[in-house]
Amino acid sequence: MDAAAAHVLVFPWPRQGHINPMLHLAAALVDAGVRVTFLHTDHTLRRLARAPPPPPPRPMRVLSVPDGLPYCFLDLMASICDTSRPAYRALLLSSLLSSGAPVTCVVADGTMPFAVQAAEELGVPALAFAAHSACSYLALLCTPRLDELGETAFPADDPVRGVPGMEGFLRRRDLPRELHCAEQGGSDPMVLKVAEAIARSCKAARVLLLNTAASMERPALAHVASRAATDVFAVGPLHAASSSRSAASSNTSLWQEDEGCMAWLDGQGDRSVVYVSLGSLAVITHGQFTEFLAGLAATGHAFLWVLRPDLVRPASPGLLLREAVAAAAGGGDRARVVEWAPQRDVLRHRAVGCFLTHAGWNSTLECAAEGVPMVCWPFFADQQTNSRFVGAVWGWT
Ligand code: UDX
Repeated sequence: MDAAAAHVLVFPWPRQGHINPMLHLAAALVDAGVRVTFLHTDHTLRRLARAPPPPPPRPMRVLSVPDGLPYCFLDLMASICDTSRPAYRALLLSSLLSSGAPVTCVVADGTMPFAVQAAEELGVPALAFAAHSACSYLALLCTPRLDELGETAFPADDPVRGVPGMEGFLRRRDLPRELHCAEQGGSDPMVLKVAEAIARSCKAARVLLLNTAASMERPALAHVASRAATDVFAVGPLHAASSSRSAASSNTSLWQEDEGCMAWLDGQGDRSVVYVSLGSLAVITHGQFTEFLAGLAATGHAFLWVLRPDLVRPASPGLLLREAVAAAAGGGDRARVVEWAPQRDVLRHRAVGCFLTHAGWNSTLECAAEGVPMVCWPFFADQQTNSRFVGAVWGWT
C-alpha cells in the first residue's frame, strides 16, 4: 500500500513516558506522508487542553476514548480495560464502515493487550509498541520463569538465572521492584497476570516495535524476538526524530513546562549543574525528600530539581518544599526548583554536567543522546534493569 492510502491509528498507554515516544513515531509517519490518528484517553486530553494549544495546522487528527476516570485515578489498568476497550472497538468499527479514509493499521501500546486483539479481530493489522528497553522487556517476558525459579523473592544481590543472556549478570535487585513479594516468597499474582497479558499481546501482534537501538541492545533484542515469537524491530531512539515539523507542533507535556530554568542555566558555569528528575510517576516520602535534599546540598554543586506537584506524599504545599530546598542550598542562586522542565533542552544545555535520574527509558535515551553522565535512583518497572545496564554495560555513569 502506498503511503497516501495508509491511515495509521496510534494508541499510547496514557502515561507521559509512553505518550512521548509514540508521538515521535506518529510524527515520523506524518512526515512520511501517512495519515495518522493519535488516540488519547479523555483524561489525558483534558490535561493537554490546559496547556497552550499547538500552532495550527494540526498535523495529525487527535481523538480520545473514555477511560472511566475522573481527574485522579486508582487502578488504571482495570479501568481502561473496562471503559476504553468498548469505545476503542466502536471507534475502529465506525472508521472501517465510514466512506472516508478507514484505519488501515494500528500501532497500539503493548501495555494494552486488548488494543491489539480488538484491531486484529476487526481485520485491521496491529503492531505492538513497547516504550521500554529491550533488556527490561526481556526480563518482563521472563517473569513466569523467574517466579518458577524462586528468583523474585527478595531484592537481594544474588544473581538470577531466569533471563537468557543475562545469567549471573542480572541480580535480583535489578528486576522490577513490584516483582519482589517477600511475604509470599514470590511474585505478586497480579504482577504475574499483567506480565503474562503483555507477553500474550506481543505474541498476538504481527510486529513488536521497541523504542531502542539495535547497536545498543542486539543480544537482548534477539532473545526478545525468540520469546515473542513475532518480528521485532528496534525503531529508536524515537525522540531523535522529533526535530521534525510534525513533532515540533504537537504538544505532549501533561505538566506545564517551566521555561524560566533555561535562563537560570545560562547563568551557570559549563558542566556545573546537577539536573534532577525522577520522571512522571515516581513518588517519594517526606523522609526521602529530606535525606535526598541533604545529600544534594552536600555535593556543593548547583542543582535544578523537577519537583512535580505530586512527587512527595503525603502532599505538602509546594511552597514549603521550595523553601526547604532554598534553605538547604544556603539561599542564593545555587538551587532552582521547577514543577516540570523542558527536559530535552535542559539536557542539551552546556551547564548541565550530571543527570540524577530514575532511569525511565525515555530519560535514559535522551540523556545518552546528549552525552551527559547519569546517576540512577530507580523506582519500579523497567528502571532497575535500565539502571544496571547504564552502570555496567553502557558505561554512561
Ligand atoms: C514511565 C516509566 O517510569 C519508565 O520507566 C518507562 O520506560 C516509561 O514509562 P516516566 O516515569 O515518565 O516513564 O519516565 P521516562 O520514561 O523517563 O519519561 C519521562 C518523559 O517526560 C521524558 O520524555 C522526559 O523528557 C519528559 N520530562 C520529564 C519532561 O519533559 N520534563 C520533566 O521535567 C521531566
